[in-house]
Amino acid sequence: MPTAAHATVAPFTNSARLPLRPPTQDSIGDPYYPQLGNGGYDVQHYALELAVDVEHNVITSTATIAARATADLRAFNLDLLGLSVDRVAVNAAPVSVQRTEHELTITPMAALHAGQPFTTTVAYHGTPEPFVSEAAPISVGWTQYDGGIYVASEPEGASTWYPVNDHPLDKATYSMRVTVPKPYVVAANGLLQQTIDNGATTTYVWATAHPLASYLVTVDIARYKVETATGPNGLPIRNYFPAEIADQAHAVFAPTADMIAYFSSVFGPYPFEAYGVAVIDKNLGFAMETQTMSVFGRDAATQPPNQAEDVVAHELAHQWFGDSVSLDTWQDIWLNESFATYAAWLWSEHELGPGSADHIARRTYMQLAQMNLPPTGDPPPTDLFNTGVYERGALVLHALRLTIGDEAFFRTLRTYAARFRDGNASTPDFVAVAEQVSGQNLDAFFDNWLYGAKLPPLPPS
Ligand code: ARG
Ligand code: ZN
Repeated sequence: MPTAAHATVAPFTNSARLPLRPPTQDSIGDPYYPQLGNGGYDVQHYALELAVDVEHNVITSTATIAARATADLRAFNLDLLGLSVDRVAVNAAPVSVQRTEHELTITPMAALHAGQPFTTTVAYHGTPEPFVSEAAPISVGWTQYDGGIYVASEPEGASTWYPVNDHPLDKATYSMRVTVPKPYVVAANGLLQQTIDNGATTTYVWATAHPLASYLVTVDIARYKVETATGPNGLPIRNYFPAEIADQAHAVFAPTADMIAYFSSVFGPYPFEAYGVAVIDKNLGFAMETQTMSVFGRDAATQPPNQAEDVVAHELAHQWFGDSVSLDTWQDIWLNESFATYAAWLWSEHELGPGSADHIARRTYMQLAQMNLPPTGDPPPTDLFNTGVYERGALVLHALRLTIGDEAFFRTLRTYAARFRDGNASTPDFVAVAEQVSGQNLDAFFDNWLYGAKLPPLPPS
């Protein structure tokens, strides 16, 4: 809550930041990707039941979606790409169904009224088809590879494998019952509740205690070797490694518990019930902060451990920034990536001593000063994960730290993580916390650093 002294201060606004649009039946209102998400309802829980033919990459599924109408609804939409829909019901009653390329439109027999809880069941089957994201030249969604299946969806791949309100604004809890032929093993989000031996197949039951954004849902199927450890305060750590590279992966992820302890001391308590990683036995060229179960490729997991620390720290730090506190609109992606990038600099400062983050910042500044980057707060919608977001964004945080001092800076991070935990936040929300904690008006600072074309001068250390 803002203090009385700050309640009268106008919220940070900058015309370069596009606000959410009013939601419509087929859009939650994200100005960058208006096709994502849908208006009129709010999902609480997805129960996904999947039988997976891993060799042929065919899924036979039922999604049971518990939601609440936020408006009077004659019809509503879910996002779904490809696949064959076999049966849809709302509150166990038949409905009429229409499909376009990525919308499933459901018209119940009787209209839903605002505030009404309702349950949608969708039975479907087929082969999910990953596609090249609009946000970056990278494939997203449910993906088969030689060795199994993985899911990495940022920002819009979730609808390749289940019907979903596909936007981080509508977070929900999940339970997933995934049946696979032996000897495949399934890693997913949350805690493994049950492993059921059906003879030729095994059913893995996973459930999350905390809500998650759809792009952070993962299902990873391979002949995994599972390694368990305990983090700070008894936090379960479970890592899913391909047997052939398990020793190398073990060494790469060995610092995880120490990193969780350090990040908890600077960001506040680890936000979820577990952590760990699923390693995909394929060079991915990226890693992904899927909630409680980050995904890494063979390329990341077989690096020399000291070189891998950056990306290991980065995906872990996203659990606070991006996962627990999720963005309101995709334009605010710096709230995820700049924070995770800066967290890796902080880890290096923790390991190598004071001045290390400042050293990295000044070296990065010299490199970026030669480049023509999009401003951190205004990334091109077709190049969301660019250097202006990651490295220039980390510099924004370092410049903020130098401007308001260590005490106010780290209290800002902790206050922001606590205030928006399990929820969503926007750039103005972060600016408001920094202004409240520091007692300074930072509008000009953030205007220049987030939206200015030119890199502002880095304050002296
Ligand atoms: N969020 C990832 C990271 O931590 C990057 C995701 C890249 N984009 C994608 N569509 N896979 O850097
Ligand atoms: Zn990241």
